[in-house]
Amino acid sequence: MAGLQKMSSYIPLEAAVPSVPSNEILTDLQWETLLALADTVIPSVRVGADASPNQKTVTDEQFESAVSKLAANIQVPNATDVARAYLQENASSLQGFRDGLQCLFANDVHEEGRKGLCMILDVLNTRAGALLLTGSMIPVQNQPLKVREQIFTAWGSSRLPPIRLIHRSLLAMFKKTWMVSSPALPIAVGIPRVPVHGKPADGFEYEFLQFPPSNDPEIIETDVVIIGSGCGGAVTAKNLAEAGHRVLVVEKSYHYPSKYFPMETSKGLVNLYEGAGSALTDDASVALFAGSTWGGGGTINWACSLQTQAFVRKEWADSGLPFFTSAEFQNSLDRVCDRMGVDSKHIKHNRQNQVILEGARKLGYATEIVPQNTGDEDHYCGYCTMGCAAAGKRGPTETWLADAAKAGAIFMEGFKADKITFAEKGESSKKKGLPLVWKGPGLQGTLISLRSRILIKAKKVIVSCGTLNSPLLLLRSGLTNWNIGRNLHLHPVLFGAAIFDEEIRPWEGSALTTLVKEFENLDGHGHGAKVEATVTLPPMYLPTFPWRDGLDYKLFCANLSHMTSFISITRDRDSGRVYPDPVDGRIRVQYTPSAFDRQSCLEALIASAKIAYVSGAKEYHTSYADMPPFYRSEEASGPDGIDEGINNAEFQKWINQLRQKSPLNVEKAFFSSAHQMGTCRMASTAAKGVVDPECQVWGTKGLYVIDASIFPSASGVNPMVTNMAIADWASKNLSKNMRKEEMTDNPSARL
Ligand SMILES: Cc1cc2nc3c(=O)[nH]c(=O)nc-3n(C[C@H](O)[C@H](O)[C@H](O)COP(=O)(O)OP(=O)(O)OC[C@H]3O[C@@H](n4cnc5c(N)ncnc54)[C@H](O)[C@@H]3O)c2cc1C
Ligand SMILES: *[C@@H]1O[C@H](CO)[C@@H](O)[C@H](O)[C@H]1NC(C)=O
Ligand SMILES: *[C@@H]1O[C@H](CO)[C@@H](O)[C@H](O)[C@H]1NC(C)=O
Ligand SMILES: *[C@@H]1O[C@H](CO)[C@@H](O)[C@H](O)[C@H]1NC(C)=O
Ligand SMILES: *[C@@H]1O[C@H](CO)[C@@H](O)[C@H](O)[C@H]1NC(C)=O
Repeated sequence: MAGLQKMSSYIPLEAAVPSVPSNEILTDLQWETLLALADTVIPSVRVGADASPNQKTVTDEQFESAVSKLAANIQVPNATDVARAYLQENASSLQGFRDGLQCLFANDVHEEGRKGLCMILDVLNTRAGALLLTGSMIPVQNQPLKVREQIFTAWGSSRLPPIRLIHRSLLAMFKKTWMVSSPALPIAVGIPRVPVHGKPADGFEYEFLQFPPSNDPEIIETDVVIIGSGCGGAVTAKNLAEAGHRVLVVEKSYHYPSKYFPMETSKGLVNLYEGAGSALTDDASVALFAGSTWGGGGTINWACSLQTQAFVRKEWADSGLPFFTSAEFQNSLDRVCDRMGVDSKHIKHNRQNQVILEGARKLGYATEIVPQNTGDEDHYCGYCTMGCAAAGKRGPTETWLADAAKAGAIFMEGFKADKITFAEKGESSKKKGLPLVWKGPGLQGTLISLRSRILIKAKKVIVSCGTLNSPLLLLRSGLTNWNIGRNLHLHPVLFGAAIFDEEIRPWEGSALTTLVKEFENLDGHGHGAKVEATVTLPPMYLPTFPWRDGLDYKLFCANLSHMTSFISITRDRDSGRVYPDPVDGRIRVQYTPSAFDRQSCLEALIASAKIAYVSGAKEYHTSYADMPPFYRSEEASGPDGIDEGINNAEFQKWINQLRQKSPLNVEKAFFSSAHQMGTCRMASTAAKGVVDPECQVWGTKGLYVIDASIFPSASGVNPMVTNMAIADWASKNLSKNMRKEEMTDNPSARL
């Protein structure tokens, strides 16, 4: 695109990742079974005569047809060699794939999940168990791939719920782990390592406190400690530091300068995301993405900066929180947007957003341009979900935390707050100890020392750990309010993919610059779904789409360069719960999109199919496994050559088929969530919520929660700006109150 800078010669610094744990997590036999299942999903595809029983056998014609389809998209001189290598690649032979699974099991999968998997792998290796689960006494890994494929597919509709759950979880795990470890996929897809557009730039330079390894506890005193450096915590840090309070921000993950961005997805998911970007709800119905790095979600999010809509403000105000319809809230919304340079004047829509805008226009759907927090400048990137190399996204690290640093705030990375203790019962002000686990100097993620006891004494403790972690920290600290962890909202999304004849390169340009709001209020109470586009880096996008067999799936993935993406993002009326794993205390999420919310999601998904159709797409795929893709036939016009548009009979037949899936079988739908909200909800009484209208935890003094977990319900719009505005207001009020307290404690203190 003319006028835009090129980034092509830029090579990011390599970020280290924690080394692969060497402890035996699965036995050799369990590995053999697991990898045989992985190869069933991502098999080596060979022609009959050359194939071994462990490979997916196809005819000469099928193979050559696949090679030529693939080669047509591959723009290198040896395109057919690349296509063959891609077809022949299998999951089990990739070192990165095995290492990736080992890391997941060691670090990210909860104990119950790992045990459940091991048990099933063991059962498959007994004669009776194999018979029960595969219909044969032969262990599944000794079956030819063709049989394994049938077995694995059948598990998807097994009458045993744990088998269906394993099927879904393994599919998610295998697809994503393959996509981050495959050398062949990015070449077959043609996706470059760094964005084509943009200019690398240095971000703000940070310093973090360091401590020599020691067994002695370290004690730090401060006015305010903020736990978590994400969107809510960062705004709070700025306001309190600028008001002259001593502020310490601690973050369990690490800071990376922009020279490391965008990270390769294999490293970025591990270094920048909670649970390596692999967290799932207990029923594996929703994949959960949340940032965990310096700047939290603000470092990896998509720059969409929408203000809270009127119907949500009113709902929250009507629940006893009049702040949300006050002018103060609007002032805070505007103030946070100003600081980040939020505007839509500089947007250049990429092809996927053009398709949405123009397709929606042709259908008469209401749309909106989505303002970006990119400092009143253009930002044609698409990779920022792995960190912004141009430092062009003005997230927490380039705005709030930088301002806080300039105002004297101090920072620690690699610190996980373990628990909050109270000086007196219910009284957290003054002598509060906050034991933290320090994992040692950051940047490279090398965990040098484990400093087990660091005590922070603060007058005010602000919990800003995000919706998944904040309730767990409160529970670890002994709080017992029934609401803690409940009221979890996820904005569940289903995905769509339109495939066009022409090349789209959907990874170029900002991911999310427009939305369709026609379906956002389907029940008259503000519940519904929006259509947006999404980031299309392969492991962030492709794993949600159905696997039918290894060849079909590989061909689908390789067409990414011709796709435009859609998400139907649902303002969920119903909710779930975050709770600690009973064995190891890590995050567990109980949430199943309700029939009501699935219906909203389906409406927007149908709308996105229509948008794709009127835009001339050749195929339309959804992340609903029980629905075949739509294929446009050659003569798509009606009688007398009249263009019937969406009235086309074949298309209508497909839409009706999809509509009949209502309310969608949750086990066939693969949802994702990048928006977690509500687990420490704000309410006018302790019976209804966790924090009071000032964000102070009910029943305590000096303990606050400021992050998206305090939303009374789902925000409807992407939550960052709403969260920051609440933080802006709450921290300003807190600062005033702290000044008053100082005056009372020490009448000579000056304002
Ligand atoms: C991929 C993706 C894209 C998104 N795109 C957008 C978008 O375009 N627009 C939008 O409005 N929203 C977007 N969001 C959502 C938005 O980023 C989040 O809603 C927001 O970041 C939540 O802010 P928070 O204050 O709740 O906490 P977070 O930003 O999640 O930060 C919490 C921080 O606390 C740290 N932490 C947790 N526990 C502890 C502990 N015990 N001790 C110390 N530190 C701890 C975590 O490591 C994390 O860094 C996106 C989210 C994702 C994941
Ligand atoms: C897996 O791929 C590797 C490398 O291409 C190959 O050597 C091996 O034979 C394949 N294994 C199977 C079972 O296809
Ligand atoms: C990609 O989709 C187009 C349009 O349907 C199709 O013609 C092409 O063969 C597909 N390519 C691959 C690799 O499947
Ligand atoms: C294709 O060509 C490139 C550049 O010469 C080479 O590095 C690569 O190995 C080749 N790929 C295959 C699969 O032959
Ligand atoms: C700020 O906090 C005080 C004291 O906690 C409270 O009384 C007041 O209502 C809050 N301010 C606003 C504008 O709500």
